[in-house]
Formats: sequence, C-alpha cells, structure tokens
Amino acid sequence: MKWILIVFSFALTVTIIACGGDTQTDERTTDARDMGVEQREPDPRGIGEVTNVDLTDPLNEDMIRRGRQISDVKCASCHLYDTEERLVGPGYLNVTNRRSPEWIMNMITNVDVMLDEDPVAQKMLEECLVRMPDQNVSLEEARELLEFMRYNDEKHAGERDGGVL
Ligand code: HEC
Repeated sequence: MKWILIVFSFALTVTIIACGGDTQTDERTTDARDMGVEQREPDPRGIGEVTNVDLTDPLNEDMIRRGRQISDVKCASCHLYDTEERLVGPGYLNVTNRRSPEWIMNMITNVDVMLDEDPVAQKMLEECLVRMPDQNVSLEEARELLEFMRYNDEKHAGERDGGVL
C-alpha cells in the first residue's frame, strides 16, 4: 500500500514538473513575442517575390482589359468586384486602398506562403475559413489583375492606391 502511494506521488510530481515546464515555455514565448523576436511585425509588402511595384498613372487600358479577363475566369467565382462583401473571399472593393500593391501581388502569386506566414492573410483565413487556392498566376498576370483592381476601385470607390507605401 505504502509503495503504491510512493509511486503515485512520484507520478504526480512528474506531472507537476511537466506542466511547470510547459508554462515556462509559454512564458518564454510570450517574452520573446513582446520583444518582437518570435513573431515578426507584419510586413505591409507581404511575403514573396514582389518587393516593389511601379504603378502606371494614368491607368493602362490594355492591362485593365487583360486583368479583367483573368479575373472573370479565375477569380470571380469567389470575389465580387463592386463591394467589400464576402462571396467566398472578400470583395475587391477598396482592396488597393487597404493593402499595398506588393502585398496584393504576393497574395495572388504566393498564396500558400502568405496564408501560412503573413499575419494579415492569416486573419482573413480565420474569418473566411476557406484557403484561397494557388491559381498558377504569373507575375505579369498578377500585375494586370492589380491594374484591374485599381480601375475597379477608381470606378466603384472613387479612389484608388490608398495602400501605396
Ligand atoms: C476558391 C475561392 C477563391 C478563388 C478562386 C480566388 N480567391 Fe482570392 N481569396 C479567397 C479567400 C477565401 C480569401 C481570404 C483569405 C483566405 O481565406 O484564404 C482571398 C483573398 C484574396 C485577396 C486579399 C483580399 C483582401 O481584402 O485583402 C486578394 C487580393 C485575392 N484573394 C485575389 C484573388 C485573385 C486575383 C484571384 C484569381 C486569380 C483569386 N483571389 C481567386 C478565395 C478565392
């Protein structure tokens, strides 16, 4: 009987130590986060190949047309154009005002990494509960899509490019 108690209290001690260990790890994580070590500040350019976008002004009509064609085929099933309301993903309206052009192009061309690592994209995923699929869009096509979104914002929101850094 006595040795059962000893074994039991030994097990209990191990459990307590184990829990203590976990708590310590948590505290370390929290500290590191406070110091900005473990959790990076969100980069307003997002994550991917696109680090700088030259915007045309006035808008480029050919790019708008090609961007709209791609969007109608590959994107419109999940994104509405003239509203921010969600279909599957958020509507395009004001996207160029809430995000930088680099972020938008990285989201389109590097969506898997963005959804795994970019805090802004991750937050949207939590709300939408659907992962935007990789649509195999080239950088050139992504730039045309961006031009269409700029046109779309000018037309339906009355302003564009508010997200430019
Ligand atoms: C199957 C549905 C689906 C398709 C198709 C799709 N998306 Fe998305 N998109 C989403 C969802 C859902 C989100 C929000 C993030 C998430 O949950 O993955 C999103 C987010 C975005 C965002 C960020 C919006 C914001 O407000 O910041 C952009 C930009 C975007 N998509 C562009 C595109 C483009 C361009 C295409 C076509 C090449 C496309 N998407 C195709 C579902 C889709």
